[in-house]
Amino acid sequence: MSKKIFSGVQPTGNLHLGNYLGAIKNFVELNNDNNNKCIFCVVDLHAITVKQDPKELKNNIRETVATFIASGIDPKKSIIFNQSSVTAHAEGAWILSCVARMGWLNRMTQFKEKAGKDKEKASIGLYSYPVLMAADILLYDATHVPVGDDQKQHLELCRDIAQKFNNDFGVKNFLQVPEPLIQNEFSRIMSLKDGSKKMSKSELSDLSRINLTDDKNQIINKIKKAKTDPLPMPQDIKDLDERLEAKNLLGIYSSLTNSSLHNSIKTFAGKNFSEFKEKLIEELVNKIEPISNEIKKLLRDKSYLDRILLDGVEKADLIASKKIERIKEIVGF
Ligand code: TYM
Repeated sequence: MSKKIFSGVQPTGNLHLGNYLGAIKNFVELNNDNNNKCIFCVVDLHAITVKQDPKELKNNIRETVATFIASGIDPKKSIIFNQSSVTAHAEGAWILSCVARMGWLNRMTQFKEKAGKDKEKASIGLYSYPVLMAADILLYDATHVPVGDDQKQHLELCRDIAQKFNNDFGVKNFLQVPEPLIQNEFSRIMSLKDGSKKMSKSELSDLSRINLTDDKNQIINKIKKAKTDPLPMPQDIKDLDERLEAKNLLGIYSSLTNSSLHNSIKTFAGKNFSEFKEKLIEELVNKIEPISNEIKKLLRDKSYLDRILLDGVEKADLIASKKIERIKEIVGF
């Protein structure tokens, strides 16, 4: 079946292994299937929901494009563009924010995590960000949205918004209700320093994550320093509930080698962590080092990256502007 794929990544720097294994790796597979139409968006409007340095933001937008391409997304097959250049996203977000309910947004756990203790000081954009995300998806009639586990709740909200819009305005099936594509086993990669915390670009310690721009020595160093426990490698999947760091590292290994967690456990059962870490380093370096080198190479040719964005914006705008015109008509403008 042909799928219409839409997904987005924030250009906030430090794209990491979690972004890669949770989302971008899946983008590449979907891009490689000729039946699919894929759109990958650099969500710069989402990025400014927390403070950004304008100069860095511009670089980070290019770096995100470079990361997509270096990971294997082909800009000739997929549309790659930045959100702020297609005005329908901001317009759509406003209209849909009049459809979404406060009660729905109040339930979003990511806002609670990101806003922290001082909710009063969070931007309104950070609060309403899932509505913008819904606009992103719904403008393109996306049927499938590949994301990591942390975006699951936002996708459920997007589905609710689409259904309410269709019901409220009596336009059955006008907004396509999208399906999430979430890899089951390894959809949440955790910090290398704390197996209970998500690997994240905002974590202060760089040792907590493998960045996609890390070189071989950085990868080796970070895995050697990654937290483990004093026991030998686990024998059974049940042991992992109590051993979060072992679970995370085995999950990363399994995802990189496209094997099941069960098989990875079998391979290393009872061995020392150091032996396992050697193998993990090998897999990581094989996968990440070429991506890292390619990102750096692509970043030297800014005009190439800008041309890709320009081309993508033109194509995305063609689709989104038609949809937003219909949305405005339906609303009564
Ligand atoms: P963002 O930029 O935080 O993350 C980009 C993608 O990476 C995934 N991800 C992870 N997956 C596994 N383990 C982790 N530790 C990890 N950290 C991040 C995220 O789930 C995501 O898929 N709101 C979105 C971007 C967005 C979007 C959209 C996505 C905007 N509009 C429309 C899909 C469709 C976000 O902030 O992702």
